[in-house]
Amino acid sequence: MVEAKQASGVHGEISIRNVSKTFIDAKNTEVKALQNINLEIKAGELITIIGPSGCGKSTLLRLVSGLENPNGGELYIDGERITGPHFTRGFAFQNPTLFPWKDVWHNVATGLEARGILKEHAADVDEYIELVGLTPFKNAFPHQLSGGMAQRVALARALVNHPKALLLDEPLGALDALTRMSMQDEILRIWNERKMTLLFVTHDIDEAIYLGDRVVIMSANPGQFQRIIAIDIPKPRRRNDDIFFRYKKIMLDALGVSID
Ligand SMILES: Nc1ncnc2c1ncn2[C@@H]1O[C@H](COP(=O)(O)OP(=O)(O)OP(=O)(O)O)[C@@H](O)[C@H]1O
Ligand SMILES: [Mg+2]
Repeated sequence: MVEAKQASGVHGEISIRNVSKTFIDAKNTEVKALQNINLEIKAGELITIIGPSGCGKSTLLRLVSGLENPNGGELYIDGERITGPHFTRGFAFQNPTLFPWKDVWHNVATGLEARGILKEHAADVDEYIELVGLTPFKNAFPHQLSGGMAQRVALARALVNHPKALLLDEPLGALDALTRMSMQDEILRIWNERKMTLLFVTHDIDEAIYLGDRVVIMSANPGQFQRIIAIDIPKPRRRNDDIFFRYKKIMLDALGVSID
């Protein structure tokens, strides 16, 4: 068992305070990727984030990861200002960037290796590769993997560090529907066991409702939070409950799609 060996405890409270992020695009015009974003995320909460392309979902995750810094406002984790990346905030980004010269096993091991603790945690690498169903491919190289497999490697690579906050940017987007549903359940199981805070970006309304304690609906130009909806259905949830469909209607209305 890998439980508690590297455990960072039940932490991961995230504060996003008045955060703005502006980029300059190729035509030298300002893009307001995020404008005055505020959110208090409880430790262990699962937030799903949905919204049209370009509304700033990935930017938000990159800011929480510390890979980008805001132009205005601040981000905190457990009261500490986020100023750069840290292994306690694991992420798997939209286009998984695996090291092409490393096989699956060594890609997953990257963080442990960088921290100098790979030797004592080598079994964890095997466990997480097994968890994402890639044991038969542990010696394969990235060019030999499908898009969905690469996403699963990125997920295992983030999880193996036992982060207190896990940031997943459309992590299941390249998976077929059945694998996707079973991976959703795996992610819920891991989240439940580890009590980590989870920020999960998706384009899939059902996925947002199935996973989220709260769903953040964003709008674009400028990127803002349009609505935050608490999903008051106990977990584990049933995908075909009436209440599920009621939330779906609320979400579609908020996204400006009518199904009447
Ligand atoms: N490094 C960058 N330089 C310039 N503009 C950027 C940069 N990163 C993001 N943007 C712009 O910021 C806005 C938000 O981008 P972001 O990638 O966060 O959107 P998103 O919601 O993740 O979209 P998608 O659903 O397509 O992944 C977009 O208009 C994008 O073009
Ligand atoms: Mg994105």
